[in-house]
Amino acid sequence: MNKKILITGGAGFIGSHVVRLFVNKYPDYRIFNLDALTYAGNLENIRDIQNAPNYTFIKGNIKDIDFINSLFQKHRFDAVIHLAAESHVDRSITHPNDFIETNVLGTANLLNAFRDTWKDNFKGKLFYHVSTDEVYGSLGKTGLFVETTSYDPQSPYAASKASSDHLVRSYGNTYGLPFVISNCSNNYGANQFPEKLIPLFIHNIKNNKALPVYGDGNYTRDWLYVIDHAIAIDEIFHKGENEETYNIGGFNEWTNLNLIHLLCELMDDRLHREKGTSAKLITFVKDRAGHDRRYAIDANKLNKELGWKPTVTFEEGLAKTLDWYLENEEWLKNVTTGSYQEYYKKMYGNK
Ligand code: NAD
Ligand code: DAU
Repeated sequence: MNKKILITGGAGFIGSHVVRLFVNKYPDYRIFNLDALTYAGNLENIRDIQNAPNYTFIKGNIKDIDFINSLFQKHRFDAVIHLAAESHVDRSITHPNDFIETNVLGTANLLNAFRDTWKDNFKGKLFYHVSTDEVYGSLGKTGLFVETTSYDPQSPYAASKASSDHLVRSYGNTYGLPFVISNCSNNYGANQFPEKLIPLFIHNIKNNKALPVYGDGNYTRDWLYVIDHAIAIDEIFHKGENEETYNIGGFNEWTNLNLIHLLCELMDDRLHREKGTSAKLITFVKDRAGHDRRYAIDANKLNKELGWKPTVTFEEGLAKTLDWYLENEEWLKNVTTGSYQEYYKKMYGNK
């Protein structure tokens, strides 16, 4: 066992795919998955690897300084891949402090514990911070986010992630702490909590519920299959340059309305409904406050320097995703009972 790696947020959507990839691909690493199991964390997401000999799950909160310090003293992690975060923009609008506490203070706790563990002997160590393209703000009709695009976060979620990115870079500059940061576009795939657009709409179509489209629906996102994000993280972790930033994206822009119509068609087909049935559920609702108009990533640096590119087309990825949600009814049922119902009512009323 030559490396101890702490992955935070590994019971969540992206984290679970990253943990699985590292546990299966690197039997010589010891992978520790630290997760508070908030509403978004779910051990079912990683049930298949729970007994792997190189894997340990730790339930704990990155907000808890004493706990984090003692965890690092005990295990002396060689590397951290930090994904734990509050991740939903709508929740950041209603509960901004949750985002500041986890995404900003929680990241600071990890950075301090990592710095204190290795002091100035950082040889062979790495803090990998997983971030988002939302730190760059909103694009106009043209142009792409590159690694040097100025930060201009527009929601409390984006501001909390931007703030954590700045903290990571400042620890590199001030303490010589080795780091890499990646900023990724919108992910989709299995195990995404049904508060985000794609799984929410799959769930609603299946249950003949309204599809709440914010504003005019002409907002653009760049979609990437989650496993391609996990592969990019693996590449950057092993081959990325110290103190560098890498943008990750799908080269795959869609307006929400076009994507929603595609989802409706694919679901009609799978549910053996007459063409056009699901699209009747589309309902325009009040816009998200401060809604960013367009995100799109230029991932050419990652492609040219590390040879990464998406392995799955959108057509394949969406098909796999829809099939996963239709085949995993129990998973969906478990996460949409209880507090989800209250959340849904507060967000969308009785629709
Ligand atoms: P998610 O909400 O599905 O999962 C977050 C995980 O973090 C959950 O398992 C949760 O239990 C855990 N967590 C939350 N607060 C915690 C705390 N205080 N202590 C310990 N664990 C805690 O999120 P996701 O969509 O998988 O995103 C993972 C990371 O990737 C986040 O940092 C997010 O900003 C970033 N990201 C997400 C996307 C996307 O499209 N989802 C795109 C780019 C970047
Ligand atoms: O760009 C990366 C980001 O992508 C990540 O950092 C975030 O963690 C992730 O949640 C995602 O943010 P978005 O806000 O883009 O994703 P969301 O799925 O919430 O919304 C996608 C688009 O769909 C956005 O324009 C808002 C719109 N939308 C969303 C919901 C939930 C609707 O029109 N109706 C809805 O009910």
